[in-house]
Amino acid sequence: MPATMTALFGGTGPDWTPRQVSVPEPGPGQVVVRARAVALNNADASMLAAADPTSGGTGKEYQAGYEFAGEVTAVGNGVQAPAVGSRVMGTTPGSFAQYVLADHRHILPVPDELGYKQACALPTGMLTEHGALTVAGFRAGQSVLVTGATSSIALIGVQIARALGASQIIATTRSATKDGLLEQAGADTVVVTGEQDLTQAVLAATGGEGVDVVLDHVGGQTFAACLPATRTDGAVINIGRLDRAASTIDLDALSYRHLRVRGVSFGFTRPAELGAVIATAGQALLPAVADGRVRPLIDTTLSFDTAAEAAERLRSHEAHGKIILTVP
Ligand SMILES: NC(=O)c1ccc[n+]([C@@H]2O[C@H](COP(=O)([O-])OP(=O)(O)OC[C@H]3O[C@@H](n4cnc5c(N)ncnc54)[C@H](OP(=O)(O)O)[C@@H]3O)[C@@H](O)[C@H]2O)c1
Repeated sequence: MPATMTALFGGTGPDWTPRQVSVPEPGPGQVVVRARAVALNNADASMLAAADPTSGGTGKEYQAGYEFAGEVTAVGNGVQAPAVGSRVMGTTPGSFAQYVLADHRHILPVPDELGYKQACALPTGMLTEHGALTVAGFRAGQSVLVTGATSSIALIGVQIARALGASQIIATTRSATKDGLLEQAGADTVVVTGEQDLTQAVLAATGGEGVDVVLDHVGGQTFAACLPATRTDGAVINIGRLDRAASTIDLDALSYRHLRVRGVSFGFTRPAELGAVIATAGQALLPAVADGRVRPLIDTTLSFDTAAEAAERLRSHEAHGKIILTVP
């Protein structure tokens, strides 16, 4: 292994800056992975903006990124698996680097059928959507409503719900032109919010009962509209706030239906718990990843050299799927 490597740093300006830093050494329970591809997340744009010294940010420099895929090059004490040389994908802060230091519990094997560009775009979506379904107590045969379903992670959520045997999947978008994308991912019914009343459309599609589980990525009044669209004893899980974090809800809809409402934010989960979420998702989903039932949608593939273009695309909110950087 070389002594130094290139990593992308935020806190230097509106975009990431490449820096030469030492290649990390794994501590107990850690692995070092030679990253081949990394994927961008919305959190990367928020972090860049919050640290940008040219527009009132903190100016605190940090090694950027969350997701990666590559080969294990070193393991620390106590790590039984994965072995050096294994192909892995995972999540850790600071993943935009040639060598990524990660907790061995926060990585999964990459099935042979999957290239690194696709693999790096899966961990966040897989762990978040499967983690949310687990929190909901989802079982095969249940119906699922996915809001903001064209977002990168929600598209993976639709595929996961389908792979795990959902009886019916209803997906929302604000754009009628995206219905094909959602049907391809596995949605039975597409609701175009803005054109249709979400609650009424879901009740109509479920014989007036509502769905068993909601995976809400939108928040705001979309979240409120999900409550009366959920069946008695159902579960509504808030994953994202693509619209707004504030929502005015009808407590009658919550109480009369005995709903369970939970929020999940896996970036704020303790390492051991996150490890368990990732391991459970891997066990349930790696066969579906291998045979193509769960695959990320890739919007753009750029490289470390064109990372500024990638950040701009992320900020535009126009991407359909994940933005990937190949690692030199
Ligand atoms: N809980 C967790 O652990 C966790 C982890 C990762 C991400 N998240 C959150 O999950 C959400 C999705 O993340 P992502 O990276 O997959 O997003 P993304 O790919 O950037 O989502 C883009 C899509 O969101 C929809 N959208 C954008 N603004 C919207 C609005 N105001 N109202 C309704 N829909 C809107 C648009 O779909 P249409 O044009 O089709 O409507 C757009 O295509 C984000 O809020 C993110 O912060 C949570």
